[in-house]
Amino acid sequence: MKRIGVLISGGGTNLQALIDAQKSGILKSGEIVCVCSNSASAYGLTRAANAGIPTKIIRKNADCGGDIDEFSRQICAYMKEMRVDVVVLAGFLAIFGGELLKEYSGRIINIHPSLIPSFCGEGMYGLKPHRAALDYGVKVTGATVHLVNEVVDGGKILMQKAVEVQDGDTPEVLQKRVMEQAEWIILPQAVEKFCAENA
Ligand code: GAR
Repeated sequence: MKRIGVLISGGGTNLQALIDAQKSGILKSGEIVCVCSNSASAYGLTRAANAGIPTKIIRKNADCGGDIDEFSRQICAYMKEMRVDVVVLAGFLAIFGGELLKEYSGRIINIHPSLIPSFCGEGMYGLKPHRAALDYGVKVTGATVHLVNEVVDGGKILMQKAVEVQDGDTPEVLQKRVMEQAEWIILPQAVEKFCAENA
C-alpha cells in the first residue's frame, strides 16, 4: 500500500474524488495519509478533516518569507515526516521546484484541466485553461493526469480524457463539465494505476 500525500490550494473537489475513490475501493493500492494546503482558507482542508485525514498549512509568503526553495523544503519535510511515497497535486496552484521535486522525482502526479499540450504551462491554472480553450474556439477539451518534472505541465502523461465544448459555454460552465466528466474520474484511476504499478 502506497502512502499518498495530497497538495491542494482551494475547493478540493479532486481531493474529494480521491477520498470517495478510496471509500468505494477504486483507489485500493494507496492510502491518503495527509493533505497539505498553501492556503489557510482552502475548503479542501475541511473535506480532509471530515474524512479524518491529518492536514497542514504551508504558505509561501506567510510561512516561507516568499522564498520558493524554502516553500519546497517545508512541503518536502512534511511529506517525509508523514512517510509519503507518492505526492498528488489535486488543484495545487503554486509552482515549486527544489527539494520536493528532487526528493520525489518520478513520484509526483498532477491533474491539469486541459488536454496537454494545449492550454498549459506557467500561468495556466484554474479557470484560465478553460478561458483560453473558449477563446481559441476548440470544440474538444478535457483533462490530463501527468507526472511532474522541472517543466511546468511537461512531465510524462499518465491519463487523458476528452470533454466536448458546447455552444454558449462560459469558463465556469466548461470547468464544471471538465471536472465532472474527466478530472474526478481519471485522477483516482491514474493514482490507483500508478500505485499498483509501482508497488
Ligand atoms: C481543477 O480544475 C484542477 O484541474 C486545476 O484547478 C482546479 C482545482 O479544483 N488545476 C490546475 O489548474 C493546475 N495547473 P479543486 O480544488 O476543486 O480540485
